[in-house]
Amino acid sequence: MCGKTTTLLLVLFTLLLTTSLSKDLCHKDDKNTLLKILKAMNISWVLEDDCCTWYSVDCDNANRVISLAISNIDVSGQIPPEVGDLSYLQTLVFRKLTNLTGQIPRTITKLKYLRSLRLSWTNLTGPVPGFLSELKNLQFVDLSFNDLTGSIPSSLSLLPNLLSLDLSRNKLTGSIPESFGSFPAKVPDLYLSHNQLSGYIPKTLGNLDFNRIDFSRNKLGGDASMLFGANKTTWYVDLSRNMFQFDLSRVVIPKTLGILDLNHNGITGNIPVQWTEAPLQFLNVSYNRLCGHIPTGGKLQEFDSYSYFHNKCLCGAPLDSCK
Ligand SMILES: *[C@@H]1O[C@H](CO)[C@@H](O)[C@H](O)[C@H]1NC(C)=O
Ligand SMILES: *[C@@H]1O[C@H](CO)[C@@H](O)[C@H](O)[C@H]1NC(C)=O
Ligand SMILES: *[C@@H]1O[C@H](CO)[C@@H](O)[C@H](O)[C@H]1NC(C)=O
Ligand SMILES: *[C@@H]1O[C@H](CO)[C@@H](O)[C@H](O)[C@H]1NC(C)=O
Ligand SMILES: *[C@@H]1O[C@H](CO)[C@@H](O)[C@H](O)[C@H]1NC(C)=O
Repeated sequence: MCGKTTTLLLVLFTLLLTTSLSKDLCHKDDKNTLLKILKAMNISWVLEDDCCTWYSVDCDNANRVISLAISNIDVSGQIPPEVGDLSYLQTLVFRKLTNLTGQIPRTITKLKYLRSLRLSWTNLTGPVPGFLSELKNLQFVDLSFNDLTGSIPSSLSLLPNLLSLDLSRNKLTGSIPESFGSFPAKVPDLYLSHNQLSGYIPKTLGNLDFNRIDFSRNKLGGDASMLFGANKTTWYVDLSRNMFQFDLSRVVIPKTLGILDLNHNGITGNIPVQWTEAPLQFLNVSYNRLCGHIPTGGKLQEFDSYSYFHNKCLCGAPLDSCK
């Protein structure tokens, strides 16, 4: 009799305890969704009840999942369409998952709070989806180190909060969209290197005050001088290994420019004296068709000959003196 009462009390107590504790458990919709996602990606983790405590998951105060970041593990399969059901997600990261294949699913457009989307170092294929422009809160988009093909969708310039766009190390073709000459608010950092982009840079990009631009290792040609200018506050410009052809002689660089790489292009003219005014920490103008005296002063003599060699007739320190 006494034993039975104790058991009953224990059961009641346990029930009370679990119901009160279950307030601290992650939202059951999110948990169900997460379990589906893990299953679809062939991830078998030993899991606690509360999915908010799972490695790679973060929740807000209401125990809704706001971040899912999976990297560096053995997964196979595609990005499950169910990720779109984590309605409160602000950060989605799939990184260094070599056997993650397939396309970026359209269901992610349901993630209306998404601020950061990083799908990089995976084997994703298909296009950079134009539908990303529907995610109005996106600030960071990193789709680098994949096998994405096709051209860059012009609609990405509609993202009102974009701070950084990294599409480098894919197989993108076509030209840089004309629309990239105007972004609604801040001008984002643009990383488009190691693709097969071709054509000319839209002239309108000259109106923008970029902080960082990396267009290196593409097949871009023509003029890129509009990217520079005295009134800009640009810090980083890498245009190396393209087919740019323009006259450097009248290119005024921003007084903020720290990194400038122009190596392996068809750039002509000479290095302007004004360049001695920039706080350059890295400079490479090698393998172009430059000529004339390297101006003396500023940072320009702090680089060795490998920053200047293989030009048409560039001379003066650190190269041989001019004849
Ligand atoms: C990827 O898949 C291949 C076979 O499809 C397998 O041999 C390899 O171990 C997998 N690698 C990882 C990191 O999962
Ligand atoms: C998940 O693993 C199972 C068993 O190892 C395998 O049959 C299945 O093809 C895998 N799923 C994916 C999407 O790779
Ligand atoms: C994934 O990409 C790596 C590197 O590009 C490649 O070696 C590997 O074969 C790819 N794996 C699959 C499953 O596509
Ligand atoms: C740069 O700014 C100066 C004044 O600060 C202005 O006179 C000049 O027109 C500007 N140049 C350009 C190209 O915007
Ligand atoms: C500049 O680029 C050339 C060509 O890629 C390279 O050989 C050289 O080492 C680079 N110089 C510096 C300082 O990085």
